[in-house]
Amino acid sequence: MTLFQGIPVCIKGTGIALPERIMTNDDLSRMVETNDQWIRERTGIAERRIASPDERTSVFAERAARSALHDAGMTPDDVDMIIVATNSPDMLFPGVAPTIQGALGATRAGAFDLQSGCTGGVYALTVGVSGISCGLWENVLVVGSETISRLVDWTDRNTCVLFGDGAGAVVLSRSRVGDGRFLSAELRSDGTKSDYLTLPAGLALHPASHETVDKRMHYVTMKGNDVFKFVNRVIPVFLEEYCESSGLVLDDIDWWFFHQANRRIIERTAARLGIPIEKVVINIEHYGNTSAASLFIALNEFLEEKRLQKAQKVLFTAFGAGMTYGGIIYEA
Ligand code: UT7
Repeated sequence: MTLFQGIPVCIKGTGIALPERIMTNDDLSRMVETNDQWIRERTGIAERRIASPDERTSVFAERAARSALHDAGMTPDDVDMIIVATNSPDMLFPGVAPTIQGALGATRAGAFDLQSGCTGGVYALTVGVSGISCGLWENVLVVGSETISRLVDWTDRNTCVLFGDGAGAVVLSRSRVGDGRFLSAELRSDGTKSDYLTLPAGLALHPASHETVDKRMHYVTMKGNDVFKFVNRVIPVFLEEYCESSGLVLDDIDWWFFHQANRRIIERTAARLGIPIEKVVINIEHYGNTSAASLFIALNEFLEEKRLQKAQKVLFTAFGAGMTYGGIIYEA
């Protein structure tokens, strides 16, 4: 079952927070053996935002959360639950969510982090919507926030050119008359591909040691080609099945929000499904892959540009470490 059956849930507000520092492809070409043309052609990325030394994931998360609450016309006291999707928390515990809950003064709210690779945004939205839909919560703050630049090996051109930092937040609430509503969600995982994207050391499997540091095991490792092939093979089929189980055909979707991992992956998926590229929201050029934050940053920009019309349907989909993947559909 993919359909939400309970209380309808809408998006009440969105916000983002981005580091000021812009790192261009030319900047990168002075750090590793790469060049602007290669990065643009293979990924669609021109620049990305990089956190300054005094910024961290909770800083962006709090800023994005404040902005989303303001947009929703709410105060922190209105929030019942805070969910932060992140793969680059300030530290393992306490989580980013309780950190920002305290900073916001959201005294009534529970708070937890959700880690599900770059699919974290879709997972977190689904959990937030489910909690409201079943009557447990009224208002949920869902945040995707990353400082992946701290976890990237800046000597590894296979990964360091791809990622960027930033946060996006969404306030979810019970729908009133005239509001939109989430229609369905589908979350999947293929843990047999867990070696495609990893950060191996620093925890139980490989506790921090001189050896793990010497072997650069505290950085993101990625089998880029395998991820690329996995997505091309799995995601188009998944999206077709997911739309069908939601009682929809691909054509019913007005706007497609793909995880901003690689422009070529997005275009190829759209082409395979016959989705006109004008229906696909793409902002990877300016931010790179901001992991669990990517869909929320794209959504906020899209809404600010007032491109979403009443009753239009939006499908958010992502894939990431795990390999996890999933989708969630919203009707405006
Ligand atoms: O949220 C999930 C995160 N991960 C992803 O979505 C990753 C998905 N995969 C990809 O986006 C692509 O596989 C990459 C962008 C990572 C790589 O693109 P590719 O077209 O698959 O390139 P490749 O790995 O097959 O490498 C092609 C060539 C190689 O050189 P040779 O062996 O042909 O001489 C690489 O060494 O490009 C070289 N190369 C680079 N050259 C310049 C690899 N990285 C770079 C670089 N700059 N940064």
